[in-house]
Amino acid sequence: MKVLVIGSGGREHAIVDALSRSEQCEKIWCAPGNAGIARQAECVAIGATEVEALRDFAVEHGVGLTVVGPEVALAAGVVDCFREAGLRIFGPTKAAARIESSKEFAKDLMHRYAIPTAEYKVFSEYEAAREYVAREGVPIVLKYDGLAAGKGVVVAMTEEEADEALKDMLLDDKFGEGKVVVEEFLEGPEFSYMCFVSGGKVWPMVSAQDHKRAYEGDKGPNTGGMGAYSPLPFITEEDERYALERIMKPTAEALVKEGCPFEGVLYGGLMKTPKGIKVIEFNARFGDPETEVVLPRLESDIVDAFCGVADGGDIALKWGDYATLGIVLASKGYPDAYVKGFPIRGLDQAAEGGWIYHMGTTADGEGFKTSGGRVVCIVGRGRDLAAAREDARRRVVLVECENLFHRSDIGWRAFEK
Ligand code: AMP
Ligand code: GLY
Repeated sequence: MKVLVIGSGGREHAIVDALSRSEQCEKIWCAPGNAGIARQAECVAIGATEVEALRDFAVEHGVGLTVVGPEVALAAGVVDCFREAGLRIFGPTKAAARIESSKEFAKDLMHRYAIPTAEYKVFSEYEAAREYVAREGVPIVLKYDGLAAGKGVVVAMTEEEADEALKDMLLDDKFGEGKVVVEEFLEGPEFSYMCFVSGGKVWPMVSAQDHKRAYEGDKGPNTGGMGAYSPLPFITEEDERYALERIMKPTAEALVKEGCPFEGVLYGGLMKTPKGIKVIEFNARFGDPETEVVLPRLESDIVDAFCGVADGGDIALKWGDYATLGIVLASKGYPDAYVKGFPIRGLDQAAEGGWIYHMGTTADGEGFKTSGGRVVCIVGRGRDLAAAREDARRRVVLVECENLFHRSDIGWRAFEK
């Protein structure tokens, strides 16, 4: 089978890597891909939202399966476009992807189908929102209703912070014109529960945890993710069963009933609160960097999973009984303005027997140089998390590059006594 992967980050590199382990793949393209992906697939210079160009490429090259990485491609309607052309594609339609692209859609759906989540109210007027916040008090959570690259959520600890966020979102339209979901503040460990979903059928992956903040101790600004690990010792089998039966399956069934059945990866961003597990958000795709630690644990053939979901069949997943932990090396300054263009050495030694997924690199002769905010995700593996962390740290030290930083505390919650 000839396969096309859409996207250009660490997640897509992990997907390409999993595909390259399948004997069913005779050819892998990635659009647009990156310098690291180019070692395992042929990169094609088509952007993730150039929907018609992607479709034409797939038709011309006899692509038998296309896998969508980023949400922007889903929101641009790539799945709808491929389906109309009779092409097999793994990912939800634009209508089903609203579970991620519209917070209001997601919250209303959860409300109507009694799926546990934080209490909320939706506002489009600044004054009304401000009054509600004053009445509810802080801490409180404000979410811009649309795609904002992970930057549209403010957890306000003071009324001033809440007011500033409401002004940004509703008066100054900082992310564009849109509504705001004002949400009850919840507390507890968060985890990412990604499931393969095909209509009403749901197959869970192993759970993982992301570290969204830039600096150690979960301090500093929100990022696209500074590291991840799997499995999670504080999530029990019973927790996972609850998440599957009370959250993920009912959500998949709700989307079927609403006339927009979901096919692809439904990602539950869940929190284990003192009052039970609740949904913080849904995503309509693989998580990044969770995918970089979850797919290395997949021992069954991923082509069967992608095709089974896309064709409405059944799938079987087999997971390795070991731990993975990924550390992201990022450019100094990220997530704000950052420096780039520095040669990276030692990646090959660092990757040996493990995995390095490229997030933001370009080719530099035979080697690589930095080109993005997040540069690479270095994944270690071990019989338990302590061994996986050791392995990842050992690899990180082998990478030589100026002006990078990383968090040395990835997985801290798992090591707390
Ligand atoms: P989201 O983009 O919705 O996942 O939100 C980004 C981050 O904000 C989450 O990972 C949480 O850490 C935090 N957050 C979102 N909603 C809540 C909530 N209701 N209570 C507490 N923290 C939240
Ligand atoms: N790791 C969070 C996300 O993919 O949205």
